[in-house]
Amino acid sequence: MSKLAIHGGEPVRTKPFPEWPRPTSELKDAIISTLENEGWGVGSQAIARFEEKFAEFHDAKYCISTSSGTTALWVALKAAGVKAGDEVIVPPYTFIATASAVLMANAVPIFVDIDENTFNIDPELIEDAITGKTKAIMPVHIAGNPVDMDRILSIGIKHNIPIIEDAAQAHGAEWKNNKVGALGTGGIFSFQTSKNMSAGEGGAIVSNNETFYDICYSYHNCGRTKGGAFYEHQFLGGNFRLNAMASSMLIPQIDTVQEDMTLRDKNRKKLDDALGQLDGITINIAYRGTTRQSNHIYLTRYKSEYFNGIPREKFYKAMQAEGVYTYMGYTPLYREKLFVTDGNEYPWLKDYDFASLEFPVTERLADEEAVWLKQNHLLGNEEDTQDIIDAFEKVTSAMSINPELFKD
Ligand SMILES: Cc1ncc(COP(=O)(O)O)c(C=O)c1O
Repeated sequence: MSKLAIHGGEPVRTKPFPEWPRPTSELKDAIISTLENEGWGVGSQAIARFEEKFAEFHDAKYCISTSSGTTALWVALKAAGVKAGDEVIVPPYTFIATASAVLMANAVPIFVDIDENTFNIDPELIEDAITGKTKAIMPVHIAGNPVDMDRILSIGIKHNIPIIEDAAQAHGAEWKNNKVGALGTGGIFSFQTSKNMSAGEGGAIVSNNETFYDICYSYHNCGRTKGGAFYEHQFLGGNFRLNAMASSMLIPQIDTVQEDMTLRDKNRKKLDDALGQLDGITINIAYRGTTRQSNHIYLTRYKSEYFNGIPREKFYKAMQAEGVYTYMGYTPLYREKLFVTDGNEYPWLKDYDFASLEFPVTERLADEEAVWLKQNHLLGNEEDTQDIIDAFEKVTSAMSINPELFKD
């Protein structure tokens, strides 16, 4: 066994992984062309073109582009009818925006634990969390791995609760051959820098429901109504619109994200095949209805009991020294300080005690087991992917055979 890089050995890898985002000449041309020839904001054809193409890409009738995924979430919640004091079911293992958008809609995020096999909201636990105040269920396709949409949609139908998909990480992902996003009432995407499609910042809402779409339009556009006067405002909306330069750079990415997906699929499979063989490393699985994952980031689980009890943090350190950066990812959202709210500022939260919440699966995965690779790790060639595997093999075998190498 070669010497570990943490002990001065040769690292598996010294090169960086592929660059992300990619400032291609196609994107530069698209921005300049819009800058010189088209409107920059409201009414720009570049925005209309992007919305039409993204709706088509996501098997949806309608798309509204927004300034971010967070604003898309807020707009979608408002359009779904979420009002002050209502409850919205969300997972606690996600980016903060999933829950903070609920708070910004003056509603209450009700957390439901996740499934250890997928890192996604556990559909078996959702019904127990439904109360008379539940006005939406907002599952998140974490890492681009679709949630169990059949189960969740049937719960929505049974209880007459809209399903809003947080598909911020799931561009191109499919459930039973349909793209995610518009499978329920509607869904949102993010185009923030790290996402598989990026305009630096940006977001979108997709839907097949015309009424929902019309209301989203109003909330994202200063409360204006379709066909109404420019200075007529019927909803308390805001300016949550995407600008035309961002739209124009997203249009070519509707094609390139699909090419990238083929590469991501291939690299994902190579990683799964190899890492799935390692005792103590558990690969993430997909629900049966999943026909495609977007493979935004690669999630796996580290079981310290297979590695002489060596804590996960030592694994990260050793991997980083080998040239492959792995990390822990999310912490349970309900532990964030923002949930310790001031009753004067957030009176509708006064009866909820987020600090006392405990979700065993979320906590075990977040605190002990989750190992994330970054999204650009999935964009490399065979050799790059092999380096990731070699680093995993080198570090985990040292942990199993020579635990004393990891003593402080
Ligand atoms: C699951 C999830 N939801 C919502 C968001 C919010 O998107 P944005 O950063 O574009 O506001 C993100 C990304 O950052 C996300 O990963």
